[in-house]
Amino acid sequence: MNTPPLNPALFHLDADHLWVMHCAEGPVPRAALRAVRAFMHKELRPWEMGFEEDFVGLPAAVRNEAALLLGGRPEDLSLTPTTSSGLVAVAQGFPWQEGDEVLAPLGEFPSNVWPWLALRARGVGFREVPLWDGQRCGAEAWSSAPPPPGVDPESRLLEALGPKTRLLALSWVRFQDGLKLDLRRLGAACRERGIHLVVDGIQALGTVPADLEGLSALASGGYKGLLAPEGLGLLWTDETFRQRLAPSGSWLSVEQATDFARPSTDFQRAWLTDGRALEPGGPNLLHGSALLESLRLLNGVGVPAIEAHVVRLQHRLLETLRESGWSIEAERLGGLLAAGRLGPILAFHHGGGGPDHLDQLLRSGYRQGIFASVREGYLRVAFHGFHTEGDADRVAGWLSGTAS
Ligand SMILES: Cc1ncc(COP(=O)(O)O)c(C=O)c1O
Repeated sequence: MNTPPLNPALFHLDADHLWVMHCAEGPVPRAALRAVRAFMHKELRPWEMGFEEDFVGLPAAVRNEAALLLGGRPEDLSLTPTTSSGLVAVAQGFPWQEGDEVLAPLGEFPSNVWPWLALRARGVGFREVPLWDGQRCGAEAWSSAPPPPGVDPESRLLEALGPKTRLLALSWVRFQDGLKLDLRRLGAACRERGIHLVVDGIQALGTVPADLEGLSALASGGYKGLLAPEGLGLLWTDETFRQRLAPSGSWLSVEQATDFARPSTDFQRAWLTDGRALEPGGPNLLHGSALLESLRLLNGVGVPAIEAHVVRLQHRLLETLRESGWSIEAERLGGLLAAGRLGPILAFHHGGGGPDHLDQLLRSGYRQGIFASVREGYLRVAFHGFHTEGDADRVAGWLSGTAS
């Protein structure tokens, strides 16, 4: 038996709720609850709140811990409410010229589409690229073919870059089919062409070790693989790229903003050059106290150990399903896994069964206390560092119909 790197006892999990859907919402560790409670006690007695310790120190500690997780520098981090708000900060702050274009894979989660479509009035185009033959999205999503094992999405994207492309925006791990893109390869190719690679990392962070080389920006909410509550996330920006972005304009995005010996109404100040320049205003301390605990937990065991564990559980589940009604999908997903093409989501394609089939399956899972999710023609099973081999076997029993 493999011991999970994240001790399940650190979470409020129970046998009636096998939660294999952190791709929708991750469970927070008990430590986050303790931290939030302790912080709320300070809110009850504000004289116990420390300016240096809490208002300045807590966000700084979160940026430090996030930098450790990303393998980056704390000064390149901005605390933002959501993935969307991080991407919006980039989209709204970039010095566009009329006719510029943003390229993206077909079928991105909307948080990585609307920020770019919102630029249409400024003359910025948005173009989507199918990543494999037969890929569909939108109204046709359920008739899409799933990504095959030999898929090469990077080539498709790089071939589609055009003379007007300024920015390539994509999910590191895709929300519906679970495909993981090769950021190293894309980053290097984009750099060569002077194009910015901007990444939505929410389906990867916490379960896939980060590699920022070649990226211009990476945004993520904290509430999936990062195991924090909804409400706070992070934006990492490359220093040179960030200097090209307009600051958020919050009162804290300028130098000496909290030096009250200097009149706050003195507006003769320089913008900050670090990640705080992109933050939306006063820090979200309550959520910060929770996110800090989750990040410490993840860094304590290390994301590489979590990734290795998740991959082991995925292999175990797929092996069992090879002899079941899911054999074709087990074969396809096994091929993708072997090629390093998957993040934490095993996305089982409906294979023609349609929405009713997956819906019934999902409900039979709920009755067995197994909580998975369906998106755009795929049944998603997402493992994390706290899942056990027994959990993988329970999912196998459910999907193969052998569970009693
Ligand atoms: C790929 C991806 N990006 C972003 C989000 C959520 O965005 P936000 O953090 O803005 O709520 C999701 C949620 O399911 C997602 O799957």
